[in-house]
Amino acid sequence: MSLPRDTWRAVAPILGVGTAAAAGLTAYAAWEARQYTLRRVTVQVLPPGHRSLRVLHLSDLHLTPGQTRKQDWLRGLGALRPDLVINTGDNIAHRESVPVLRESLDGLLDVPGVFVFGSNDYYSPTVRNPMRYLLPDDGQRNTHTPHLPWQDLRDTFTEAGWLDLTNARDTLKVEDTSFAFAGVDDPHLELDRLSDVAGPADPDADVRLGVAHAPYLRVLDQFARDGYDAIVAGHTHGGQVCLPGRGALTTNCDLEPARAKGLHRHPADSRPGDPGSAWLHVSAGLGTSPYARIRVACRPEATLLTFAPRD
Ligand SMILES: [Fe+2]
Repeated sequence: MSLPRDTWRAVAPILGVGTAAAAGLTAYAAWEARQYTLRRVTVQVLPPGHRSLRVLHLSDLHLTPGQTRKQDWLRGLGALRPDLVINTGDNIAHRESVPVLRESLDGLLDVPGVFVFGSNDYYSPTVRNPMRYLLPDDGQRNTHTPHLPWQDLRDTFTEAGWLDLTNARDTLKVEDTSFAFAGVDDPHLELDRLSDVAGPADPDADVRLGVAHAPYLRVLDQFARDGYDAIVAGHTHGGQVCLPGRGALTTNCDLEPARAKGLHRHPADSRPGDPGSAWLHVSAGLGTSPYARIRVACRPEATLLTFAPRD
């Protein structure tokens, strides 16, 4: 079917403007996905009188060997000289990424650290429709693609002394502050074994932290109920494709978009000191799927959390 010439003359400029706008937005989104940003947040979570600690939260690097700009940026994080690193998973996106990641994090691997894995530490990424970042979770899980070398990744971290919190509890002393951790394997793949880590958080520790890749409500609820002071997670990419001035449209899990990134309480309407209430820090992460390297109004980020004494 062909349009009458007069109609075509009227529509063509509109189509041209639309195509140019789409191309411009795509170019912008590809640019923003490379604007790595350090966000700084203070969390009053230490007992009164304790020295503040610098805690670097890394998440969702989705690193490939070709992402040299991201690797350079990661190398610079060592200069922050954090006291503790918390890595909430989705580190790699290529079977040859582990040596590159190890080299990029070289200045951080001698710092005390803890980690959990996400689905993108286990399975290779696949081509996906970028529009999925505008839509609720479609329930599809990417578990039929080749495995990534997660054992090598785990060995890299554990040989550096980082604690593997995969469905595990553990403790760590940093300076004069004792930490009690509980972590779960990726809730997005339903690998979390909450019963393995359930129970009251160590009342003798100075700080109690729950760690997970994907901030599903069942995990947040349990950690908060068990008395963890703060919960640290990633996975959401902050919504990745956000509306300027409004924020995330989706979190790719059952957390509401208003808490897609940043520091909040859990439950959302609770306050410090309420029983069963915890801080929740969600990182927007540093990467994306290598097949959809776009971000809009949601810079890729690492976060330097200052753990400060409570009032
Ligand atoms: Fe991710």
